[in-house]
Formats: sequence, C-alpha cells, structure tokens
Amino acid sequence: MDKKITIAIDGFSSTGKSTLAKQLAKQLGYVYVDTGAMYRAISLFAMQNGYINEDFFNKETLIDSLPTIRLQFKFNPDLGFAEMYLNDTNVEREIRTIEVSRFVSKVAELSEVRVKLVELQKEMGKDKGIVMDGRDIGTVVFPDAELKIFMTASATTRAQRRYDELLQKGDSVSFEEVLKNVEERDYIDTHRANSPLVKAEDAIEIDNSELTREEQFGIVLSLVNEITKTI
Ligand code: DC
Repeated sequence: MDKKITIAIDGFSSTGKSTLAKQLAKQLGYVYVDTGAMYRAISLFAMQNGYINEDFFNKETLIDSLPTIRLQFKFNPDLGFAEMYLNDTNVEREIRTIEVSRFVSKVAELSEVRVKLVELQKEMGKDKGIVMDGRDIGTVVFPDAELKIFMTASATTRAQRRYDELLQKGDSVSFEEVLKNVEERDYIDTHRANSPLVKAEDAIEIDNSELTREEQFGIVLSLVNEITKTI
C-alpha cells in the first residue's frame, strides 16, 4: 500500500476547504480535522461565559480559562465525519452560526489560543494519514506536509455559498451581512500579527470560483497519487 502523507489545506473562509478535505479523507481512509471548528468552539465558550460580545472582549479571563477547555472530535458514523465537542457537549451546530463567525477572528488572534490549538493539531497529525484544513496548516502546524493546497475564490462567490448554507439551516441572515462578514474575516485573517493567512511558498493554489467540486477533487486526488508513488 502507498505510504500515508499529511495533507494541509489552507485558504480564505468559505472556499470549500472542508468539503474537499472531507471528500479526500473518505477516499483515502485518512483522518479529517477541521481546525476552524476548534477556533469556533473556543469562541462559543467565550460567548457562553460572557467574555465576549459586540462591545467588549475580556481576553485575560478567556486566556486564564484555556486550561479548563476540553476539545474533542468524535466520529459520527451516520454523518461520516467527526463532530466537535466542547467540554463533552456536542457543539457542531452552535459553532456554525453567524454569531460565532462574528467573534471568531478576534479569538483566533490571541497567541495563547493559537499555541494551545496548534499543539493539539500537531499531536493529532503525528502519525500522518491526515487531512487538516485551516489558515496556518501548511505554514505553522505542518510546515513539512507532503502536500499543501491553498484555496481561493472571489468574496462574492464565497458569500453566496455561505449564505445558501445558512438559509438551508434556517438562519435568517441577509446576503449583505454574510458578505460583510466574509470580507471582515478576510481582512483580519490576513492582517493579524500571529500566523496570518498566507500561502506557503510550496503550496499549490487552486482558485475554485469556476470549478465544480468534482473537478477540484480530481485535481487534488491526482496530486496525492503522484506524491504517494514517489515516497
Ligand atoms: O474555517 P472557518 O471559517 O470555520 O474558520 C473560523 C475562523 O477561525 C476563521 O475566521 C479564522 C480562524 N482560523 C484560524 O485562525 N486558523 C485556523 N487554522 C483555522 C481557522
């Protein structure tokens, strides 16, 4: 059998990273880790405890509470992927709301949060055979990953995708609100001091504004096959 590799998928929000990563993990029999879910779960914790709202952010208290936060992924066989648990509660639905999306970039800026999550992520990937998606996977978490993908698409394409998803879930949001959130997160994600979103030098960029899911999957799967043959 081919050797297992590490696949790092980074890129802007709503570029379809998780859809691609899940498809790859399923096909290859790899573990899939959605690191955005981990930053979202910490943000949800901060919201639930009143450490963050529209007007203020009590960073110190959140940082002090980090050792009490337990994050786990538990595989759900019915869905075919792992769900996020925050202190033993399934928070898969709560972490995907627009409220969490509004605060998550601020939480993800904190170096103490990043240090904790990067350590957990490195541990999860130590045996390879993993597809991890996020913003800093190819640059910080797995700089030696055998395959690094950097995904992009126009802001309006991405906002439309996220808007459709939220509507399907029954959230009442306007397209303008979603677009504004996508643009704000792009700005914060690329300008923050800690691990800003940048393309790793050796990452392969895929702009999927005009690609179907099947087309992107085909492109990346052939890259995986090429790499696993040569190692
Ligand atoms: O992929 P996502 O939209 O669920 O990610 C949520 C937020 O978490 C995003 O605004 C940036 C942050 N994030 C990060 O800073 N580093 C990661 N590895 C993953 C996500």
